[in-house]
Amino acid sequence: MTGVRVTDLVKDFTVRTGLGRSRFRAVDHVSFELVPRRTVALVGESGSGKSTIARILSKLETPTSGTIEVTDPHGAAVTKRDYRRHVQMVFQDPFASLNPFHSIAHHIARPLRVHGRTRGSDETYDKVVEMLARVGLDESFASRRPHELSGGQRQRVAIARALAPGAQVVLADEPVSMLDVSIRLDVLNLMGRLQREDDLAVLYITHDLATARHFSDEILVLYRGRVVERGPADDVILDPHHDYTRLLAASAPDPERVGKVVSGEAVTDRSMLDNSRCFNHYTRQWEEAEERVAA
Ligand SMILES: Nc1ncnc2c1ncn2[C@@H]1O[C@H](COP(=O)(O)OP(=O)(O)OP(=O)(O)O)[C@@H](O)[C@H]1O
Ligand SMILES: [Mg+2]
Repeated sequence: MTGVRVTDLVKDFTVRTGLGRSRFRAVDHVSFELVPRRTVALVGESGSGKSTIARILSKLETPTSGTIEVTDPHGAAVTKRDYRRHVQMVFQDPFASLNPFHSIAHHIARPLRVHGRTRGSDETYDKVVEMLARVGLDESFASRRPHELSGGQRQRVAIARALAPGAQVVLADEPVSMLDVSIRLDVLNLMGRLQREDDLAVLYITHDLATARHFSDEILVLYRGRVVERGPADDVILDPHHDYTRLLAASAPDPERVGKVVSGEAVTDRSMLDNSRCFNHYTRQWEEAEERVAA
């Protein structure tokens, strides 16, 4: 089974400050595993490092330290050359992710050809139509251009394109946050169905605790580059331990669904928030950052 093991991931950026430069740690010793048929949600506020992790995992960015191991269905390590075939990304902005000059068919045909999944134009076209059908779009979409599609339809195309190489690991960075609220669940349900059909391992990045709970098995709460709480999705949402998780839950837009679960008073003073400790629901214990660094 194709899976990803991320160990002690660190990413430092150099930023200009006045006259000099300083180092900024965007991702600080983050570890997790993506396995087939399971979804790990990465939640946290803007700037907490979520996209940086996804970008490192998709090789758009190199880590400062730490390792990412991807194994194929036979348990062998996936080489750099084969990486794209196994690990694909779905981005937040469906308008920016498709090339306006190319047809929808082209977008899906390209990865099929590049990764040798089809031979000849007839076979490729048939497969394009099949991939479109899998994401709920009929053949008439094949010849259209991106501007002729709605945001939701474009995101479906982006998903079809991600799966076209036969990818087993999907990194979805806020895949529905730019879509109209009314169609978000449709797209998330579609991803859930494809995950079950193809045994996909999924990383789901979101601000939204309600969908993180509903569509994920495990939740990692990220605060200023560090994981401050981790565990089975229900445990993290229904029994949040870290003040930051409680704050997130309390500020969730749908209090009927999420706010109620907050126990005690939500912290509003951010200077009180401490990201040197992580509550691990699997061990039911707090872990210190230093321990995680050493582990
Ligand atoms: N290339 C870069 N150079 C310098 N700093 C960067 C770079 N890329 C990201 N950062 C910084 O790293 C931090 C984490 O950014 P990241 O995009 O991972 O956040 P995020 O959790 O995805 O936020 P959002 O929810 O807004 O998408 C931010 O403070 C950001 O400014
Ligand atoms: Mg982001």
